[in-house]
Amino acid sequence: MSPSGCRAEPAGCRAEPAGCRAEPAAPRVGAGVQRAEPFGVTKGCAFTKGGTGLIRLDKLLTHFGCGTRRQVIDAVRRGRAKVNGRVCCDPAAKVDPEQDEIQFDGAVQSYQRHRYLLMNKPSGVITAVSDRRETVLDLIPESERRGLFPVGRLDRDTEGLLILTTDGQLCHALMSPRRRIEKVYLAGVSGTLAEDAPQQFANGLTLRDGTACRPAGLSPAGDEHGLALWRITLQEGKYHQVKRMIAAVGGHVETLRRIAVGPLSLPPGLPTGQCRPLTTEELHELFRAVGDAEYQG
Ligand code: URA
Repeated sequence: MSPSGCRAEPAGCRAEPAGCRAEPAAPRVGAGVQRAEPFGVTKGCAFTKGGTGLIRLDKLLTHFGCGTRRQVIDAVRRGRAKVNGRVCCDPAAKVDPEQDEIQFDGAVQSYQRHRYLLMNKPSGVITAVSDRRETVLDLIPESERRGLFPVGRLDRDTEGLLILTTDGQLCHALMSPRRRIEKVYLAGVSGTLAEDAPQQFANGLTLRDGTACRPAGLSPAGDEHGLALWRITLQEGKYHQVKRMIAAVGGHVETLRRIAVGPLSLPPGLPTGQCRPLTTEELHELFRAVGDAEYQG
């Protein structure tokens, strides 16, 4: 998916397109890699599910984005694909994407079960899947919206980093107060904050309605458009939390931008209103941050 168009990549293709160009053929393992004996290996290696879920190797590799069907067929015949560690030269060989390890030019290919997007949310858009007003989902091409939902909520007038995913488990983990995933905001503030505001934040502020907040960070971050800019770090996500915490120490939030969630930072080059897929590296970091799940790709 490119930043400009939120266009989806072929699901789960971990190979760079360049990886699908001509490279020295991988060394062949075993002899007689023929169509009749698809892998030059035991038949069982790719026929472990008794005929369910099997798909032609060339079709699967095409789906993974390794080239056009024609290119893939040619590449497989040249020995650039492996099934369960053995070279397979038969484009028509039936494989099971759930069970078999498929390599193309040495890179393991797999379906990405879920989609993960990072959006630079603009102001004026609702963080919801559907609403009578414009939502963050409306910013994504209709063909690519299916199953996506935002992780948490930013106010309509808040900008910045928003994760959208189809992965309910990760969403739940990121939102869980127990995980204490940090969210960092830059707030343009009018009014004068109490001198001990950073200390009040650090101690765990009590809001005007009696709501107790966890210890949070507050530090000056310069100014922007004539407003004092404050950096706020939260470990939770209560309703209008930044605005209410700033109000509790004498200020008024005029602008609000989220710049980080856990290990993810808002990419400087990502224009407002656009999104891109999380990189594999970002996904590993995110799963590490939530602590109990390994990103499986
Ligand atoms: N705190 C707020 O007040 N608003 C947001 O959108 C996020 C955090």
